[in-house]
Amino acid sequence: MGAGQRNLANELHFEFGGGISMARRRRSGGTNWTLWGGIIAGGASLIPFIPMIRRRAMRVTTILKKDHRMVSGLMMTLEMTPKFNSTVRKSLFNQIYNDLMAHATAEEEVFYPAIRNVAFGQAQDVDEAYREHGIVKDLLREMSNMDPMSEEFDSKLTELKNNVQHHVEEEEGELFELCETRMSEEQLREIGEALSERKKELKIQRAA
Ligand SMILES: [Fe+2]
Ligand SMILES: [Fe+2]
Repeated sequence: MGAGQRNLANELHFEFGGGISMARRRRSGGTNWTLWGGIIAGGASLIPFIPMIRRRAMRVTTILKKDHRMVSGLMMTLEMTPKFNSTVRKSLFNQIYNDLMAHATAEEEVFYPAIRNVAFGQAQDVDEAYREHGIVKDLLREMSNMDPMSEEFDSKLTELKNNVQHHVEEEEGELFELCETRMSEEQLREIGEALSERKKELKIQRAA
């Protein structure tokens, strides 16, 4: 057996005689450090972009549309919930009340003033939206003092649903079109972020 063959035999012995696991451990140890180094370096390189990621909030119109779908789903569920289930009916109504109140108030404080700034001669649509909010809020307050198992509550629910549907159609039509054509992408997202923050505050205040 020549020197070259002996070396090969030694290496094979090392590889198959238990050394293989040590060799792998050494290799994997090295890879882990490289991996962790990469993750840390990658994370550090993202730090300057964090404010930019935060700023990529949803457009205000997307947030409001989601709220609209959610509340109409809740109203339909409440309509379909049998009369014997008073706890479920009450808790569904509470959710509708809280969501709609926070949604409408945040629109009045954040969204509508922003539309007024770009509406020029079309501010009457905003005035109409405030008026319709008044009707919806009055209905919600009336319903909060009613028995959710009563016929009277059901007819108010139908009235609420019709008013909300009508208002949503107008809002998503005229008002959304107005702001989407007259505001920049950045403005739509900034207003979206401000509106979300306000909604959160209102819900916390109500829960306290
Ligand atoms: Fe709305
Ligand atoms: Fe509205």
